Amino acid sequence: MYTLPELEPLRDFDAIAVLTSGGDSPGMNPAVRGVVRAALNQGISVYGVQKGYSGLLAGDLRLMTSSSVRNIVQRGGTILKSDRCEAFKQPENRRTAVQILKDKGIQGLVVIGGDGSLTGAHCLAEESDLAVVGLPGTIDNDIFGTDDTIGFDTAVNTALDAIDKIRDTASSHERHFLVEVMGRNSGFLATHVGIAAGAEMVVVPEYEVHIEQLGQQLSESRRSGKGSSGIIVVAEGRDPGLTYRLAEQLRQQGEDPRVCILGHIQRGGQPSGHDRVLASSLGAMAVSYLLAGYSDIMVGVDAGGIVEVPLDSVIRYRKGLDPHLFELALLLHK
Ligand code: F6P
Repeated sequence: MYTLPELEPLRDFDAIAVLTSGGDSPGMNPAVRGVVRAALNQGISVYGVQKGYSGLLAGDLRLMTSSSVRNIVQRGGTILKSDRCEAFKQPENRRTAVQILKDKGIQGLVVIGGDGSLTGAHCLAEESDLAVVGLPGTIDNDIFGTDDTIGFDTAVNTALDAIDKIRDTASSHERHFLVEVMGRNSGFLATHVGIAAGAEMVVVPEYEVHIEQLGQQLSESRRSGKGSSGIIVVAEGRDPGLTYRLAEQLRQQGEDPRVCILGHIQRGGQPSGHDRVLASSLGAMAVSYLLAGYSDIMVGVDAGGIVEVPLDSVIRYRKGLDPHLFELALLLHK
């Protein structure tokens, strides 16, 4: 449940557009629904841009009605499709995009995505008179200025569901498992999953891995009878194959661990109740912020309230993993 700010409508819009961009995340659909329904309720037409910025550059925009977003609040993925668009990094292509929007009489744009997508949104707002509002949509929860992102909660629960099953077989065979979760640059997902799964160890890109210490810890726990099977949650990091290499290093220390890469399963599935409420609130509030005259902002969550954050800060600063939370993940298995 979030506290929603009261915003006074100060400007009119005939039409706005909404797009989803970057890696999809469960909850993008309820966010799109929130934008579309909130705008239509205020007499604003809404275009759905297909396939993120690539679809925008291709002029693939479709007028949406209330029934376009019927029966999607519970669906994973994004009905608008998504893409990572290299071409959008070029200013001349962004100028084309602005013209395409203007030709349709579109004065506002809502962009739902991660840091790359929000960078594109900031550039558009800076380089044109379009009103642009971003929403944080990523399973990584690594966006500066918001405590939560659309899809994070669902991804944590998807990983937990898998790990609970892995624990059964780990325990039957008295084996340790290295379970790789997503997170190229950040360990939020790994840390939350590690705490919630009661993992023996969590490996994240933010901190160095002490593999010898890990090996000793696993052997010690086997010897002392505390645990002959355990879960080590590993964030994928920037270095492909990290989890297999860690497993090999543990093998050289006398362990015989197995590896399970959860991969894109974490990006799919029905959004959790938490993500549906978050996404619906952010989607509807994006329209309120546009009407209140805001642009070049992201709408996010801070201390239980919906807040606006300048996109400039969102893309300039890095959200740091709370070291206390990480320590907690390591402490609780002892
Ligand atoms: O940014 C979200 C994310 O799921 C990361 O956790 C992951 O590293 C990446 O996307 C994978 O991207 P792709 O689907 O393009 O391989």
